[in-house]
Amino acid sequence: MTRGERRAVIRGTGSALPDRVLTNADLEKMVDTSDDWIATRTGIRERRIAADDEYMSQFATRAAEQALSSAGLPASQVDLIICATVTPDMPIPATACIVQDRLGATGAAAFDLAAGCSGFIYGLAVAERFVASGDYRAILVIGAELLSKFTDWRDRATCVLFGDGAGAVVLTPGEAPYGVLATSMHADGSMADFIYVPAGGTREPASERTVAERRHFIRMRGNETFKMAVRSMEETSRAVLEKAGLTPQDVNLFIPHQANRRIIDAVGSRLGLREDQVYVNIERVGNTSAASIPVALDEAMRKGLVRKGDNLLFAAFGTGLTWGAAVCTWGW
Ligand code: UT7
Repeated sequence: MTRGERRAVIRGTGSALPDRVLTNADLEKMVDTSDDWIATRTGIRERRIAADDEYMSQFATRAAEQALSSAGLPASQVDLIICATVTPDMPIPATACIVQDRLGATGAAAFDLAAGCSGFIYGLAVAERFVASGDYRAILVIGAELLSKFTDWRDRATCVLFGDGAGAVVLTPGEAPYGVLATSMHADGSMADFIYVPAGGTREPASERTVAERRHFIRMRGNETFKMAVRSMEETSRAVLEKAGLTPQDVNLFIPHQANRRIIDAVGSRLGLREDQVYVNIERVGNTSAASIPVALDEAMRKGLVRKGDNLLFAAFGTGLTWGAAVCTWGW
């Protein structure tokens, strides 16, 4: 196979969610909010939240194990592990290395990739190049977040939105017409303060003051983010489809980042997609950031909604700001 003929195909998928369910009714008891406000403004009814003693690599590892098993691939054959996350186990080292050890993927290189909710798209774009070039034959792309650990549970504007979880895919070489057809990645750091955690890094290291002022928690300018999300997800989706020689009508299933039901509906309708062309699970899982697309893809697979030859469109938007999209034809 030459470089031009070789494609990266998604060979297996997996996902892992915490057991604990937090409903809108539970949140009503914690902050000044209502089930009606949350459901109407976001589409979320419940989300999964990790226990106090659980941490991100546990979910990332479970999702990766499932993806490897559905691909029929032993961990020893994995060449690279990309863990898309902004909620690592620890600031140092990369959680991907911890996952590598847990999986027993001793031959794999491993790194974390921080692109917020766009992290899975970024990871897919990077991995696709390594497979298409022939450098690597098996890559795990994991999207995993425990945003609950960075959530200010007194801030009703953010705490109702996020959920925890992990999803993973295995990429291996395949041939046209199957595989990843096109990807896109974008960023605009002038809006870095739309979604951010002010303290805990080198700019504002952890101190008693930063903890007292709750500066280790996520802050978001929701309304401005909303408008950017709709516009950029539509534009980048159109661009990758065009690059792949497809139109929105050729899309069998659109799996968008699940940030807000109204964002998903607006992007879907701007692209001219019918409701049955768009996969939505936000009502049960909330916004799981980098995990949202691979979790949704794994669910769609298990429900039998993805068939050989189907064109799948993924699009995401998140902190950075970052955004991007990918289109692939399912099968190998
Ligand atoms: O995943 C990464 C990207 N993230 C996103 O894409 C998030 C995008 N943004 C959003 O999804 C929406 O902006 C939110 C769901 C976060 C907020 O919805 P909104 O329609 O933009 O509401 P808003 O922020 O403009 O707030 C409207 C009102 C405010 O009250 P006043 O000032 O009008 O009296 C808020 O204080 O709603 C109030 N509010 C709430 N009320 C009840 C904000 N949060 C809540 C709440 N419960 N949880």
